[in-house]
Amino acid sequence: MPSLAGEEFFLPSMPGKFKDKSHTLHRQFHRCFASTSTMFLWALFLVVLTASYLSFQSFVDSSSKYLSSAWGGIQWEKQVRASAHIHRQNGFSVLVTGAAGFVGAHVSLALKKRGDGIVGLDNFNNYYDPTLKKARQSLLNSHNIFIVEGDVNDERMLAKLFDIVAFTHVMHLAAQAGVRYAMENPNSYVHSNIAGLVTLLEACKNANPQPAIVWASSSSVYGLNEKVPFSESDRTDQPASLYAATKKAGEEITHTYNHIYGLSITGLRFFTVYGPWGRPDMAYFSFTRNILQGKPVTVYRGKNRVNLARDFTYIDDIVKGCVASLDTAKKSTGSGGKKRSPAQYRIFNLGNKSPVTVPMMVGILEKHLKKRAKKSIVEMPGNGDVPYTHANISSAQTELGYKPTTDLQTGLKKFVRWQDLCLFSVNSLCLGYSLYLLSFLYRPA
Ligand SMILES: NC(=O)c1ccc[n+]([C@@H]2O[C@H](COP(=O)([O-])OP(=O)(O)OC[C@H]3O[C@@H](n4cnc5c(N)ncnc54)[C@H](O)[C@@H]3O)[C@@H](O)[C@H]2O)c1
Repeated sequence: MPSLAGEEFFLPSMPGKFKDKSHTLHRQFHRCFASTSTMFLWALFLVVLTASYLSFQSFVDSSSKYLSSAWGGIQWEKQVRASAHIHRQNGFSVLVTGAAGFVGAHVSLALKKRGDGIVGLDNFNNYYDPTLKKARQSLLNSHNIFIVEGDVNDERMLAKLFDIVAFTHVMHLAAQAGVRYAMENPNSYVHSNIAGLVTLLEACKNANPQPAIVWASSSSVYGLNEKVPFSESDRTDQPASLYAATKKAGEEITHTYNHIYGLSITGLRFFTVYGPWGRPDMAYFSFTRNILQGKPVTVYRGKNRVNLARDFTYIDDIVKGCVASLDTAKKSTGSGGKKRSPAQYRIFNLGNKSPVTVPMMVGILEKHLKKRAKKSIVEMPGNGDVPYTHANISSAQTELGYKPTTDLQTGLKKFVRWQDLCLFSVNSLCLGYSLYLLSFLYRPA
C-alpha cells in the first residue's frame, strides 16, 4: 500500500524522537542528486521527455497538415466534381498531372476554354520557386480549374480521383524536369519520372473506363545521336543524362502497359518549350533576368567552338500539339483488346521548323530588352546537355495536323512582354501578392 509505505517513511526510529521531516527530505533529495551518475540519469530522462514531447508535437502538426491540406473530404470531392464538369457536347474529362507547371497550366487553360472538364494534380515541389506554381494555380482557379495538391505516387489518392470522375483522358505532364539537376538530386527523377509514372499507369489500368493517356517524353531521348533532324524512328539508346534515361524508360514502360493492358498511349517528345509563365531554370528565362540586372550570362560552346543550337518551340504551338493528341487518341481497349485490335501506341516529335543557336537567342533578347548582355562564353561542361536538337515533325504534321507558327523572334517578344508585366507588378507589390495579381492581368490568347 503506497500510502502506508509513505507514512512509514516518516515514522520515528526511536520512541519520543521524531525525525525532522524537512531534514529527511533534504537527505533523500541530496542522495538522489549526489552522485554524477544519478545526475546523468536525470538529465537523460529530461532529454528523452523533451524529445518525445517535440516528436509528438510534430506528429500532431504533420497529421493535422495532412488532414487539412491534403486530399479527401466532402468539400474536396465537390471541388473535384465541379472542376471535372464538361461544358460542351462530346467533351472530355481530363486529369492533367503537373497542372501547376509551365506546360500543364497552359494545356489546362486551353482545354477548359473549349469546354472540357479539367482536374489538375501537382505536388508543388520546390525544384524552382513554388510561388510561380502557386501563381499559375491562381490563374487556373480563376477559370474554375481545381488543382489537387498531391503526388502521382499516391495510389490511394489516384484511386479516389478515378472513383469520383470517369476521366476520358489523362494528360500526364508531371515530372522532374531539367537536365543538370539530375547530378544533384538523381532520386527525384526516379521518384517522379519512373515510380510516379508506374503508379499513374496502374491507376489508369484499374480505372473503369480506362482513360487514353497522352504524356510528355522529351527530345533529350535522342541523346548522343548525331543524325539530324531527329526522327521518331531514330535510335534513342544513348542518353546523355539521367533525365533523358528516365524519359526513355518512360517510353518503354508505357509501351508495356499498352501491350499488356491495352492502354491507349501517345508520347510527345517536346523540344525546348519557352514562353510566358515559363520555367526559371531554363536558359532564355535566366538570361532575361541576368541581362535586365546587368549580370553576366554564361553561353556554352560545344567541341571545336561550335555554337549550341536548339529547336525552340513556343508554348502555344506545344499546346496545340497536346490538344490534337488528345483529340486523335483512340480509346483504351483493356486487357482483352489486343485480341480484337491492339491499343494505340504513338510517339511524336513536337518541335519547331528550324533550330536557332544560343548566341542568336541572346541577340534576340538584347533587341527586345533594349540592353546589351555581358556574355561569358565557356566550353560546355559534361553536365548532360547535348550540343544540338532539331526535330523532324513530319509525323506530327500528318497525324496531328501539327504546324508550329511562332518563330523565336515573335515568341521571345511575347515572353519579354510577360516578364515586363511581372517585374512591374513585383516591383510595386510584395512577390506573392503580385504574382497572384498578375494571374488576373495576363491571360494567354
Ligand atoms: N519545358 C520543356 O522544354 C520540356 C522539354 C521536354 C520535355 N518536357 C516535359 O514536359 C513536362 C512538363 O514540363 P514543364 O516545362 O511544364 O515542367 P514544370 O516543372 O514546370 O512542370 C512539371 C510539374 O510537375 C510537378 N511534379 C513533379 N513531380 C511530381 C510528382 N511526383 N507528383 C505530382 N506533381 C509533380 C511539378 O511540381 C511541376 O509543377 C515534363 O514532363 C517535362 O519533362 C518539358
